[in-house]
Amino acid sequence: MKTQKIEQTSIIEEKSGADVIQGLTRSPKTLPPKYFYDARGSELFEQICQLPEYYPTRTEAAILREYASEIAQLVGACELVELGSGSSSKTRLLLDAYQSLGYHCKYVPIDISETILNASAIQLQTEYPQLEIEALVGTYEQAIAQFKPTTLPRRMIFFLGSSIGNFTPEECDRFFHQVGAVLAPGDYFLLGIDLQKPTEILEAAYNDSQGVTAAFNLNILSHLNWRFQGNFDLSLFTHQAIYNQTENQIEMYLHCQKNHVVYLQSLDLTVTWKKGESILTEISRKFDLEQVEKDLKSKGLPTLKTFTDSQNWFGLILCKVGK
Ligand code: AVI
Repeated sequence: MKTQKIEQTSIIEEKSGADVIQGLTRSPKTLPPKYFYDARGSELFEQICQLPEYYPTRTEAAILREYASEIAQLVGACELVELGSGSSSKTRLLLDAYQSLGYHCKYVPIDISETILNASAIQLQTEYPQLEIEALVGTYEQAIAQFKPTTLPRRMIFFLGSSIGNFTPEECDRFFHQVGAVLAPGDYFLLGIDLQKPTEILEAAYNDSQGVTAAFNLNILSHLNWRFQGNFDLSLFTHQAIYNQTENQIEMYLHCQKNHVVYLQSLDLTVTWKKGESILTEISRKFDLEQVEKDLKSKGLPTLKTFTDSQNWFGLILCKVGK
């Protein structure tokens, strides 16, 4: 098992916090959702995935359980590149399918959190001793920009969990373009997307009764406190997620309950909060399957096959790059 750190511009940008300054000085205030994922945030996200109200993880896992073998047969021996691999829990379903079919594969997990990436790569290596694993620490853009030619017959990039939903439409467009540009003819792209559904189901999934999503949302402020020597008082902020039916997206906010002045020392940034002021910490877009297929096609990623669950709550789109 090899772990490699990708040192490039956006890691530097993350250190310099230019994106934090930009988000906290605009009105309304925003933060890039990547700041959720320090070690604690990644742990909390794993807990979210187990919540009864948070259907995406188990629904996508059920689709994979049913179709992983078909996907492996369609794709064949390949380099499996997972963007935002986290704990790689759903990946095991694909790896098991490859193993039982006797197809050769190499696994390349990519994640921004080095802690969770290392822990899950070590765990995977004990479960799959024959598997070649090359873990990459970095952002998706960095990783994609640094791909080396694969020695396997083809590559499949996969991006599960509807993480694409946390991208703005512009970021999503750019991302599809990047994926389409880096894949060679005959390569594959497997994308997990959360589909549109009634507001009550969506809002319950992001306002869970145990308060794990609230803790996850607030953790973005403690992450900023340690990363940039800040003094956010977390007790002044409350979590809320609403479904914006016009934009088809969950919007996650932190509402400030009192006037509050925050200083982020290493950014030399003072941020003033008014009582009742809110910050948008995340969007989670909910998709129309056919629209996404069209968008992918326009970026050179035509759909080979789509897999969904019986309620049509979640979709997995397998694209094959044409000749
Ligand atoms: C990682 N991402 C797909 C999750 C989502 O559902 O948008 C992040 C999340 N935020 C709150 N709950 C889960």
